[in-house]
Amino acid sequence: MPLHLDKIPTLRELYTRGVLKPAKVAPRHAPRAALLDRVSLFQGDITTLDIDCIVNAANRSLLGGGGVDGAIHAAAGPSLLEECRKLNGCETGDAKITGGHDLPARHIIHTVGPIYSSYKKEEKAEQLASCYKTSLQLVVASSLKHVAFPSVSTGIYGYPIKDATHIALNVARGYLDTPEGDKLDRTIFVVWSDADKLVYESLLPHYFPSEDEGDTV
Ligand code: APR
Repeated sequence: MPLHLDKIPTLRELYTRGVLKPAKVAPRHAPRAALLDRVSLFQGDITTLDIDCIVNAANRSLLGGGGVDGAIHAAAGPSLLEECRKLNGCETGDAKITGGHDLPARHIIHTVGPIYSSYKKEEKAEQLASCYKTSLQLVVASSLKHVAFPSVSTGIYGYPIKDATHIALNVARGYLDTPEGDKLDRTIFVVWSDADKLVYESLLPHYFPSEDEGDTV
């Protein structure tokens, strides 16, 4: 059953319901009321979202796999694979766009996250940040208004969820604070597990504080 945008809670709704609570320490970013209506957290299957674009956590071949990649290809149907074959793969940290095929979403942005390694933390962090940045740039360049991200690299690719979530939220807040980012109506973070949901709920107030936060330093 496709899920429409108006059924996906905004941060403002989640603060109002008490699901999100103000950060206990000074947030890393100043409150910006408009963003509370333009960012969402959603727990569930990203393939059900009836929005402009969902992001796939793909591999460099772009020819499908397990995890969310497997779910997206299964729901989008074989015509997605046919289109992906023409893309000649994708480098880690980069992103490419296809149609949504049999999905409710109109488009899919395929990004390739890093395979985590504690020996190359800096490089892996830069690559993961690039996944979010290039995907957001591609959404705006494609004149799309809403995008949903899974938690890239935190499944099969083993990226620690808390470190990955800091990167995702920091890049998203930075981009949404630019004139380009202002063109996006909704950025949705999709979580699958309860554990991941708790991490996003604890970190979102540091990057997207509610209006009645204490003074930020
Ligand atoms: N909807 C939303 N999120 C999902 C779904 C779904 N249907 N299925 C899985 N997830 C979540 C996982 O729980 C995890 O939090 O997506 C996140 C990303 O996990 P993976 O799909 O394993 O992706 P990643 O860690 O980036 O590894 C990519 O796995 O599937 C292969 O081909 C893919 O080789 C690539 C690698």
